[in-house]
Amino acid sequence: MDIHKVSILGTESIWIGYDSLNEFMKEIATNLASSTYVLITDTHLAPLHLPRLQKAWAHTGSTARLLTYTILPGETSKSRSTKAAIEDWMLENGCTRDTVILAVGGGVIGDMIGYVAATFMRGVRFVQIPTSLLAMVDSSIGGKTAIDTPHGKNLVGAFWQPKYIFIDLKFLETLPVREFINGMAEVIKTAAIWDAEEFCRLENDASLFMDTILSRRDPENPSNVDLSPVREMLARIVKGSAAIKAQVVTLDEREGGLRNILNFGHSIGHAYEAVLTPFILHGECVAIGMVKEAELSRFLGTLSSEAVARITKILLAYHLPISVTDEAVRSRAGDRIIPTKKLIQIMAVDKKNDGAKKKVVLLKAIGETYEKKATVVSDSDIAIILSPHLKVSPSLDKIPSSTTVIPPGSKSISNRALVLAAMSSGKCKIQNLLHSDDTEHMITALIKLNAAEFSWEDNGKTLVVKGNGGKMNPPNSQIYLGNAGTASRFLTSIACLVPASSGLIVLTGNERMQERPIGPLVDTLRANGCQIEYVNRDGSLPLNIAAGSAPRGGRITLAATTSSQYVSSILMAAPFAQEAVTLSLVGGNPVSLSYVDMTIEMMRAFGISVQKDPEQAYTYHIPKAVYNSPELYVIESDASSATYPLAMAAITGTTCEVPSIGYSSLQGDAKFAVDVLKPMGCTVIQTENSTKVTGPPVGTLKPLPSIDMEPMTDAFLTACVLAAVAPGVTSIYGIANQHVKECDRIAAMCVELAKLGVKCVNKPDGIDIHGINVADLKETKEFIDTYDDHRVAMSFSVLAAVYPFPLLIENRKCVDKTWPAWWDCYHGDFKVELTGFDSHEIIASPGSRPRAVTSIFVIGMRGAGKSTLSQWISAASELPLVDMDKELERIHKRSIKDIVAVSGWAEFRHMEADLLRDLYNSRYEKPVIVSCGGGIVESEESRKLFQQIIADYGIVIHVHRNIHTVHEYLMEDETRPAYGESILDVWERRKTWYQECSSHLIYAPHFTAEDNSLNVKKNLADIAQRMIGDTKSMDNLLERERTFFLSLTFADLNEAATIIDKAVTGSSAVELRVDLLRSPEQADGIPDPSYVTEQVALLRKLTCLPIIYTVRTESQGGQFPDHAYDEAEELILLGVRMCVEFVDLESTFPDKMKDRIFTAVNSRSITKIIASFHDWEGKYKWNDIYWNNMYAACAQHGSVVKLVSLAKQFEDNLALLEFKKMHPTKPLIAINMGRLGQASRIMNGVLTPVTHSLLPIKAAPGQLSVRQVHKGLSLLGHPDVEPLKFFIVGKPIAHSRSPALHNGFFKEVGLPYVYERMETDDITEVQRKIIELGDSFGGASVTVPLKLDAMRVIQKGNLSAHAQAIGAINTVTRDVKTGEMYGDNTDWLGIKTSIEYAAGFDHTFHGASGLVIGAGGTSRAAVYALHKLGISTIYVLNRTISNIESLQEHFKELNIVPILNIEDTRAASFIPPVVAVSCISGEIPLGETMLKTILSEVLKPRSLLGPRKTRRVLLEMAYKPRLTQIMQLAEFHGWNAIPGLNPLVAQGIEQFKIWTGLEAPWSLGQQFVLG
Ligand SMILES: NC(=O)c1ccc[n+]([C@@H]2O[C@H](COP(=O)([O-])OP(=O)(O)OC[C@H]3O[C@@H](n4cnc5c(N)ncnc54)[C@H](O)[C@@H]3O)[C@@H](O)[C@H]2O)c1
Ligand SMILES: [Zn+2]
Repeated sequence: MDIHKVSILGTESIWIGYDSLNEFMKEIATNLASSTYVLITDTHLAPLHLPRLQKAWAHTGSTARLLTYTILPGETSKSRSTKAAIEDWMLENGCTRDTVILAVGGGVIGDMIGYVAATFMRGVRFVQIPTSLLAMVDSSIGGKTAIDTPHGKNLVGAFWQPKYIFIDLKFLETLPVREFINGMAEVIKTAAIWDAEEFCRLENDASLFMDTILSRRDPENPSNVDLSPVREMLARIVKGSAAIKAQVVTLDEREGGLRNILNFGHSIGHAYEAVLTPFILHGECVAIGMVKEAELSRFLGTLSSEAVARITKILLAYHLPISVTDEAVRSRAGDRIIPTKKLIQIMAVDKKNDGAKKKVVLLKAIGETYEKKATVVSDSDIAIILSPHLKVSPSLDKIPSSTTVIPPGSKSISNRALVLAAMSSGKCKIQNLLHSDDTEHMITALIKLNAAEFSWEDNGKTLVVKGNGGKMNPPNSQIYLGNAGTASRFLTSIACLVPASSGLIVLTGNERMQERPIGPLVDTLRANGCQIEYVNRDGSLPLNIAAGSAPRGGRITLAATTSSQYVSSILMAAPFAQEAVTLSLVGGNPVSLSYVDMTIEMMRAFGISVQKDPEQAYTYHIPKAVYNSPELYVIESDASSATYPLAMAAITGTTCEVPSIGYSSLQGDAKFAVDVLKPMGCTVIQTENSTKVTGPPVGTLKPLPSIDMEPMTDAFLTACVLAAVAPGVTSIYGIANQHVKECDRIAAMCVELAKLGVKCVNKPDGIDIHGINVADLKETKEFIDTYDDHRVAMSFSVLAAVYPFPLLIENRKCVDKTWPAWWDCYHGDFKVELTGFDSHEIIASPGSRPRAVTSIFVIGMRGAGKSTLSQWISAASELPLVDMDKELERIHKRSIKDIVAVSGWAEFRHMEADLLRDLYNSRYEKPVIVSCGGGIVESEESRKLFQQIIADYGIVIHVHRNIHTVHEYLMEDETRPAYGESILDVWERRKTWYQECSSHLIYAPHFTAEDNSLNVKKNLADIAQRMIGDTKSMDNLLERERTFFLSLTFADLNEAATIIDKAVTGSSAVELRVDLLRSPEQADGIPDPSYVTEQVALLRKLTCLPIIYTVRTESQGGQFPDHAYDEAEELILLGVRMCVEFVDLESTFPDKMKDRIFTAVNSRSITKIIASFHDWEGKYKWNDIYWNNMYAACAQHGSVVKLVSLAKQFEDNLALLEFKKMHPTKPLIAINMGRLGQASRIMNGVLTPVTHSLLPIKAAPGQLSVRQVHKGLSLLGHPDVEPLKFFIVGKPIAHSRSPALHNGFFKEVGLPYVYERMETDDITEVQRKIIELGDSFGGASVTVPLKLDAMRVIQKGNLSAHAQAIGAINTVTRDVKTGEMYGDNTDWLGIKTSIEYAAGFDHTFHGASGLVIGAGGTSRAAVYALHKLGISTIYVLNRTISNIESLQEHFKELNIVPILNIEDTRAASFIPPVVAVSCISGEIPLGETMLKTILSEVLKPRSLLGPRKTRRVLLEMAYKPRLTQIMQLAEFHGWNAIPGLNPLVAQGIEQFKIWTGLEAPWSLGQQFVLG
């Protein structure tokens, strides 16, 4: 190849050649004379190409120095530190101003070395020798140089033009496949903005290109690709791109406007790149960016849907990603949520922007930009495009009174039109063609067969087909049809018509396609003389079809029951048979006859009239003739899609015309307007080809008492949303198949409409909708779940148009399946206001749950604690409890005993299974907690059901405890009938059944000791929350910047019982090192699962901190055998079954095993994964690319990444900090082991593993305690740990124990904080003090009488929700970073926790009454706490009514009943309280006051309380004296009186947590307070 030169900025400095290094080097030696040349490349390229480069240099005979330097490959090298290293090296080697730098490599080398050249000695000459495709077509040209910073890519750099750009295409032979593809992104970009013809060529070249780079290898050198088939193409691409770029750069060197357009795909692409680098390459991010920016153009109305589809398709054809959710992206970068806000924030630093206004390159057509520069676009429009979900705002008033919408073309008609137009003679313009895989494959195949020429007009809106009238040639390669079913059927007959005398047509498809049947069609064609052979399996593709074997014609028969596509295929090919054809469908009524009619109808439009036999049914006569295409063929719109715009008119009282479908349509759903909309009250005007609907005034749609939608099942969802606002009952039937579509659509409509207050009844064959007035639709904070079903999404968008509140619709992209531009039409034509909405916002929005919650089933042996646990789960999840035994008795109106006696066990088990099925199937209506009978697993029917539930990712909990304990318990309990057989035998029989039938295990510890029962209850409540999809607590934990977990290194946790409470101080989680567990009977080996089960249960009793469950292998620093994968997997899955919060997953485990665990975890988001890797020997340095890859590998499975190395020198800690900065996307635990690595532990941040002096051994060398980490931070002067002052403010406080409590905690965790007293009742004095202290003020505890006044010092927006609800604060916090002050109230939590603790674990307060004594500031917190406990009637006892009234006024929603005199307690309606909180001073003597009389009356035990041992709790809020008179009185009457120190400790712990983010244990607090 000759050297081709391109001129840029007035000089011919771009040279393109193949194997031209000699010429290039000669030019350098002659025209860039110097004493020193510096060649810089990367360590990957050096061995491949340096010898060739050096040889070429030697060839010049130059005597000047040629120094070479290599850097690590990859984006991470484009850094300040690499630049500095190169500069230092050049200085050391005496490089001066005359040095010439040769940058040999990809864009990384080019950009970075260019920047070195730009600044070295204020700028030296340099030459670009690009080696990657991306560098050749883009980065090396134009003089932009840059490096990355942790804030983003390319943020620091300069314009510095290279003297030459030498492009040698031979370099590409060693380029890895992924890099090749990466470069194609820029090539496609250039064509997309500038060169429509080149874009077409690229579309056509895709398969050749991909085939070549993927498969053709040079046999001599397997790493080399033999590029000869695409050498021409590459030369064309490189020359073309270089020419365009040179032209643009020459016109606008410094990027004033025009040069912007090269940035198409980059505004958004760069934002993704900033978060995804280095896992996703530049070109890959640009590909995603191009799709988004094209979609943005379409949304803003500048670009057609067809063009967007072409861009998407071409990227896919070159194996480029089109979305961050693509499998390829997710497997490289991990499954992560990238907040739209974050992307937009990154986009804000784009150099193109005009101040705060963002600029994006919009397209007008393929090959043309909207403006000759980037266009200003609003953040909200960008957000819509980037967000996965949408919020629809009420915009009824904005909807235009009349609109015209053309929905996408019908798929069936599009495919037929392509075949017919290609087989015709003459030119046919096809409009409204559907862009889908099917049509795409069809076009490609027809081109390959040379059946027609295709071109696009009118911005891609019109496809021009120049048919060859049936003349075709055998293609030179096989025809690949993907999974395009219709195309494969139609083309099988068409391929037989290829007239050549020799040649073969191979039809093939993807794996799925190769399983789909085609036998009946092939049989029929063969019988008519066609030569077709199966290549692999009989009856399916691939097929070998001999050219020149056209059907003989004459009489052809086909079974009527086969697919109508076979019939259509033969019909369309029939005119080319050697004789006229008579086709008979025999043996019954043909299926989908309407599609056969459609084909006949369309053949008529293309000039051939098929005659139906007047006598014989289903017999057709097809003449021997030639197709003649009409000049224009407009594809009828898809009728199901058309229902949405028409329904928009119906529901909003406006007019909408769909000009592309009318009464002549053969599509079933075309009847929707006349059969559904008209009877609902719309005016419908339908012509042959158009439909116009005008809705009645909003709110006046009429219900349809009974409508058969069998002929248009897909449209039933559209009908449902209209019926929802047509007051009365609409009953739809004939749609049974809709239970098993993309989702159970009938169930989906029931659940989703219920969210808006519309009741539906789910029926086997249909649905009843109880329509209501528009104004009565209920406001919901929940989002509409689309179940990834386009029809659900589009239907609800119709309803959202009249919904009077904002409505969130999840997963907007699901409409892509049939109508990618639906939201553009919705917003652009109907003017409905949209806002983008992010995944995390949806999850965080109150009341919303990520998935429809399903019922939770609880199984287990009788006596295992099933009913108690079910009750707790029900209370915590707020889902109603159903006891199956009771429910059966209710339904059958007999006791279980009677049922069994009368009908026998078998029948009883059957009834049980029936009920179970019902409970499960009605899951979408109302989820419940189901407590099942102990023996339910005895029936196979029920077992199958449970397994089905688990397979559907439902939740079945097996509740169990030590079987001997169960045994003892049941023997003691005489109220229950004993088992007929030994309990142990029963257990042995059922053991595996319980296991198979459950997804989770809750192993209940023994509950007799009440001291720890609260932990169990709290843990269970938390698990229940996670089971219903609320992961807030864990998400919050991961969001905090500095957290710790304690590694428990015990063989048996019983040894930890006494120390754990103190040892966890400051930690937010505990790690259970499963590999270290050893039962007393076991000396070594693998811990037994049953022992591990007991240990997890024990840990749940010892602490309510989240558990990190770790099976650490030997090679990763633990004691678990390295290759015992099966055992490791079993144990890890046991942890998942037991609902631990985190499991550690070592990245060294086999991939399959990791995937299985990942799936088990991911299917129900109850547990999270910490993906870990330990470089135990410190083999790799932190700036080694190795760690980037390891991060990527871990991020794939883990919500948290944990990387551990060994520090060999102190500097390793600094390198680690750099690494952390570069990897901000997932919570990252990164530490260096060893004493030298301690600094890294101090600096780690999230979830630092810690030890405590009370533990027997450290889990790893160099491990520190929480106290040591804080001391370290403090000594380093770290801004997170400044010396701060805290206060208690109020009066009197001389005896307050708060200072002892907080100073004790601070000291324990090593924080340099002090807590002092400030006695005052004047809030201004407090304010003055705060100002005086300035930055050293940390916060304050506020007590009487300032709790209300203190509200004034805090801005309203800075009050916590609880503080606002209570109307008083007890905690002030100053955020050290911002200086803002925040107000909170922890009193109520102190009260609530103390009561729960004292009442024991098996207590629920729902429906009970409570008493508050006093009506001041603390009483507010007490009222709120009682309310939060579930108490419905709250009595307030106070001397005067006015304070009670102000309480009532404040808590308007609550039922607060005053008690002013003794009569009030004797009223018939009086419910004796079971909880009381005293909020009056403890030091005022009660004497024989009125108060005492009333109190005695209220507190005295009543017969009404019944025989149940209700433990009544009185909580004293005064903490002096320790035993107040009220407490004495309560105890006298049999109450459990709790001293004020308890709530003091509980609220103090909460306060401490607010101030420090750390957890503190109760026992320690108590110890400090008691002194
Ligand atoms: N300055 C600009 O105008 C501009 C334009 C686009 C992109 N860029 C920058 O370019 C960089 C991306 O460039 P890149 O994609 O070339 O990445 P790269 O430089 O990292 O090269 C990719 C990989 O391919 C290897 N490689 C390169 N040529 C090879 C060959 N011939 N044979 C074998 N291996 C080879 C490299 O060693 C490297 O591992 C990004 O930093 C991007 O920001 C700059
Ligand atoms: Zn680029």
